[in-house]
Amino acid sequence: MLALGILGSGKGSNARSLLEAIRAGRLDARVVCVISDVAGAGILDLARTRNVPAIHVDGSPFRTKLDGAAQDHVIRLLREHGADTVVLAGFMRMIKSGLLRAFPRRILNIHPALLPAFPGLEAWTQALRAGAKVSGCTVHFVDEGMDTGPIIVQRTVPVLDDDTPESLHARIQEQEHLAYPEALALLADGRLRIEGRKVIRT
Ligand code: GRF
Repeated sequence: MLALGILGSGKGSNARSLLEAIRAGRLDARVVCVISDVAGAGILDLARTRNVPAIHVDGSPFRTKLDGAAQDHVIRLLREHGADTVVLAGFMRMIKSGLLRAFPRRILNIHPALLPAFPGLEAWTQALRAGAKVSGCTVHFVDEGMDTGPIIVQRTVPVLDDDTPESLHARIQEQEHLAYPEALALLADGRLRIEGRKVIRT
């Protein structure tokens, strides 16, 4: 059974989908803690309503990365709560080498585009602006780069002519809520092997 430590900065719909997959018996895991760099984030409220430890960590001194004392604090919390797998679910800071070393090949992220296309912020807006006809979401292992790690699961979404950034993001999120439990279930069942940059399903 996986022991998930979830990191997020936003409303927590992906965290909710994981909790639901666990409850429904589709994912052999438990969520041991939810950590956020945003004190008022919905993901912390969600954790509290599910009796999961919900912890705010001050991300300073940096704005867009998790490093230094803040990173050490997060590593300590994850260990104290017994996490063996770190799930980034809308966490808006770049993870640095300390955390990567503490949980080698055990940190996953979900990105709202079909990587390697459209890494970085507001990927759904990037896809719209580029005139892409198909987009989607990607669950991948995290490495030192920005949205560059080995890809585990992708799900596609058509881009419609009348899509707005909001409508496209909403449709991508529906697929995220299927993709993240699916990827973690593969990990929980020991059915993933990494070969170079590739994830092989066994
Ligand atoms: C998702 O779109 C995810 O792909 C991106 O941030 C968003 C988080 O949404 N990394 P939520 O907080 O899980 O609802």
